[in-house]
Amino acid sequence: MFGSAVKRGALIVFEGCDRCGKTTQCKKLVDVLKSEGKNVEFMRFPDGSTHIGKMCREYLECGIELEDHAIHLLFAANRWEAAPKMREKLMSGTTLIVDRYSFSGVAFSAVKPGMELAWCKHAEAGLPRPDLVLYLDLSAEAAAKRGSYGDERYEKVGLQGRVRETYRRLFDERWSVVDADTSVEGLHTRLRAVVVTTMERSHHQPLARLWT
Ligand code: TMP
Repeated sequence: MFGSAVKRGALIVFEGCDRCGKTTQCKKLVDVLKSEGKNVEFMRFPDGSTHIGKMCREYLECGIELEDHAIHLLFAANRWEAAPKMREKLMSGTTLIVDRYSFSGVAFSAVKPGMELAWCKHAEAGLPRPDLVLYLDLSAEAAAKRGSYGDERYEKVGLQGRVRETYRRLFDERWSVVDADTSVEGLHTRLRAVVVTTMERSHHQPLARLWT
């Protein structure tokens, strides 16, 4: 039918250091938007439903050791294998709310000795570019107070502080930096407003490619 072009969904990514509240906020947002009848889906990386994603998870849980470049490429490959499905969903009108994406990939790898930021970004270049990156900002010390870090590979205060500095090198005009040192409800209200505006704005914009 004439004039019935599908409005594309928005690609919305949540980023931040461990314990910043990303997962809680992503899930709450998806539940609320769904209850309002909006076409939204939750995703997370690493996506442990694939062979590559399972290797990433095993690495994070210290079950296997992998050379730094090799694990970086596996995290990126886990996004590349998801990219066709993501594009298809976005183009057919589904908004994706994603818990971690390429920026985690770069921020956590580039703090390792001998890992170049530019090299880390290269493996991610060409993936669907988010319409909005919501960066939940929390100091490593405040994050550690939210519950003791567990046994995961990167859950250490010093390292999280360096990751936070690396994230700052990735900020651009599509990022919104939000102070995460506040209540779950207060933060949700702020995030929801930015997300709804982005969903409306993205409807008729082409889906761009990251870092190209
Ligand atoms: P999460 O399951 O709590 O989100 O933790 C995932 C961990 O994996 C977190 O410490 C960040 C790290 N990570 C990477 O190192 N590279 C990546 O590409 C992604 C998505 C996560």
